[in-house]
Amino acid sequence: MREKIETLFTEIERLTANSLEEVEAIRIKYLSKKGIIATLMDEFRHVPADRKREVGMKMNALKQAATERLQQLKEQFAQNGTAQAGNDLSRTAYPVALGTRHPLSIVREEICDIFKRLGFTIAEGPEVEDDWHVFSSLNFADDHPARDMQDTFYLENGQLLKTHTSAAQNTIMRKYGPPKPGHALKALFPGRCFRNENIDASHENTFFQLEGMMIGENISISNLIYFMKVLLTEVFEREVKVRLRPGFFPFVEPGFELDINCVICGGEGCPTCKHSGWLELLPCGMIHPNVLSMGGIDPEKYTGFAFGLGLTRLAMMKYNIRDIRLFNSGNLKQLKQFTR
Ligand code: PHE
Repeated sequence: MREKIETLFTEIERLTANSLEEVEAIRIKYLSKKGIIATLMDEFRHVPADRKREVGMKMNALKQAATERLQQLKEQFAQNGTAQAGNDLSRTAYPVALGTRHPLSIVREEICDIFKRLGFTIAEGPEVEDDWHVFSSLNFADDHPARDMQDTFYLENGQLLKTHTSAAQNTIMRKYGPPKPGHALKALFPGRCFRNENIDASHENTFFQLEGMMIGENISISNLIYFMKVLLTEVFEREVKVRLRPGFFPFVEPGFELDINCVICGGEGCPTCKHSGWLELLPCGMIHPNVLSMGGIDPEKYTGFAFGLGLTRLAMMKYNIRDIRLFNSGNLKQLKQFTR
């Protein structure tokens, strides 16, 4: 695999194109969904665990090198675009303003890719839900304050906008059922959530979470911590300091809050981390037996973990974005600067 990557580096460096069509053909060959680099990403599964990090970093660098080379090749034509347009009037105008992906989509896809390689199924639940899915099936008591209108947007028909991605847990447990012996139910479900919050630089009423869940016969807290570490190391491309504190959610027992060292100030204290040096990023825990039962899974036989990553907050950390309002602003000047 390493040699393959090295060869590709050289190959990419030497690429030339005589027309924009050729540039496009190169893009398809290397960077499309079924291109050489994507295929290589698929093979990544077979890399032994202790080399995953090194190879993963090389592959990211390769992808970037290819993207940059393609851009260079393209620019070559953008410059003499007018001259060419004089010759071929049927040609489309160039340079064409290409769209970019939203920073939240970039981070979401990156995490989905990591977990797909680890065998997780990607699922998604609806945004309009009922009380059973958002609260009751998750072991919330009837008088739990989260059910209050102050926190939750209710619709006139009695349904509500989901306040967290955990709302899909029950559906997924029922859909896939208990895992076969020696297997585990592994699902990842990103989604948009809504809470009745006043909006400021660090609060939004519409934000994204990404939930993960793993259920099997011998799942323990060490599995949970392992997956959390893989996730954070891959997203930040380096080891990040974490701390685990007890956290309370009706659907996990024990429950935790996993904090990361504030990436913006490096732990010294800043407005984003409220001067504590730490950021709450990953609430998680072992799935409560009642929740398993309500999902049709025998809690005597199976255990599982769940985590609810704050995707919006993670994107803020990764890109050093200090105002959450940017995400829903539609401000293209700002949103277009994030490319990977
Ligand atoms: N759903 C919880 C929230 O939004 C987070 C969470 C998910 C906690 C999974 C534990 C396990 O606050």
